[in-house]
Amino acid sequence: MKKIAVFASGSGSNFQALVDAAQANQLSYEIALLVCDKPGAYAIERADKVDVPSLVVSPKDFASKVDYEKEILQKLNDSGVELIVLAGYMRLIGETLLSAYEGRIVNIHPSLLPSFPGKDAIGQAFQAKVKVTGVTVHYVDEGMDTGPIIAQEAVRMDEDETRESLEAKIHQVEHLLYPNVIQKLCSTNRNV
Ligand code: GAR
Repeated sequence: MKKIAVFASGSGSNFQALVDAAQANQLSYEIALLVCDKPGAYAIERADKVDVPSLVVSPKDFASKVDYEKEILQKLNDSGVELIVLAGYMRLIGETLLSAYEGRIVNIHPSLLPSFPGKDAIGQAFQAKVKVTGVTVHYVDEGMDTGPIIAQEAVRMDEDETRESLEAKIHQVEHLLYPNVIQKLCSTNRNV
């Protein structure tokens, strides 16, 4: 059983999907910790409800990003976390976590990268009127939504698509894809 930490900043529906998939099936990962950079985020409530410990840390309470990430790193080490799973964590990972968890940080992004990186990828794709967008899971490097791609799934944009309906379709795909990918990463003998 691999111990993972999920990092989230908002609603945490992907955190929930990872919890639900692990509960419904015998999966090879255990969520040891939720890390959240936004006090009051709904993700924290979700973690409480399923007894996953959470670390809530505001970057503004630290003198530097290095200090902020050192605090997180300490907790990850204490909890024996082997893989960091970003799920709507709206912050660039800095050198402290990147070097400690090299090749062991993954992210999910709501577009077919390298198209539409950064904020509001769903809105960007909607406005661009593309016919196909989707979801990407990738390893994290120092860039914004860059790093080697692990998996992608396409989502078709229908003629009468609204932003809301597109968002719902993307989230549906995310909630199946992410647990599958994390399960695969954790069940192989790779050093994640
Ligand atoms: C998800 O759609 C995720 O792909 C996106 O934030 C949302 C979080 O939703 N992440 C990014 O845009 C990262 N660049 P959630 O809090 O309900 O899981």
